[in-house]
Amino acid sequence: MVASIGFLPYIPVMDVEAYKRAAAARALEFVQGGMRVGLGTGSTARHFVDLLGERVRIGLDIVAVATSEATREQAARRGIALTTLEETPELDLTVDGADEIAPDLTLIKGGGGALLREKIVAAASARMIVIADESKWVSMLGRFPLPIEIAPFGAAATRLAVEAATAEIGCPGPALLRRRDDGHAVVTDGGHWLLDAQLLRIADPAALAARLCRVPGVIEHGLFIGLARTAILAGPDGVRLVERR
Ligand code: A5P
Repeated sequence: MVASIGFLPYIPVMDVEAYKRAAAARALEFVQGGMRVGLGTGSTARHFVDLLGERVRIGLDIVAVATSEATREQAARRGIALTTLEETPELDLTVDGADEIAPDLTLIKGGGGALLREKIVAAASARMIVIADESKWVSMLGRFPLPIEIAPFGAAATRLAVEAATAEIGCPGPALLRRRDDGHAVVTDGGHWLLDAQLLRIADPAALAARLCRVPGVIEHGLFIGLARTAILAGPDGVRLVERR
């Protein structure tokens, strides 16, 4: 059921969780015995790991690489056999969530702070499937602040350089250091910090990605370009698949 408040669609939280789980369940159909599977991070990927664990319990034989410590712990609890990219550098399939999904399946990821490992795992996979509720589908990326993982050393200088870089590409906006409730910087699994760049509209993600890669101190950014081949989206009208052309 979808109600409306003003101009914003309002989807009750319980329904959103059901949509995330429905997308995760559809993605499970792509998993076959013997596969090497990348496991994403976040609330949607968590549903996938739960459902995959149920299949493993009744005999599905796969090995998995986790994109975060949180996912690794969840997968271990669910009895999923874990490997690493050191032992298994090539994966068959990665299933992960996203913060925004554009029609060409360019993504913004990193809202959960795991973007570096998520991108490494996705790039090592023959196929990436992104799973989400329909609220993540956008005509243009940028309303969700772009996460950028940076080295703690020189963070203030890196932040200024990032703001100059985004402005140069035509999407100016503040890049704010992500902080915990106690005011300290959020630290990623890799020991880095995060900026959240409030850009609103990213008209040319490829140009922005290339420019951000040239900023010293930027470890990785949350634009995933050419990585997701399939999106599985669930909403009030059901589950749909979108393939990248
Ligand atoms: C984790 O760093 C992110 O990339 C998540 O995949 C993304 O934030 C989506 O998370 P949810 O599934 O919780 O919305």
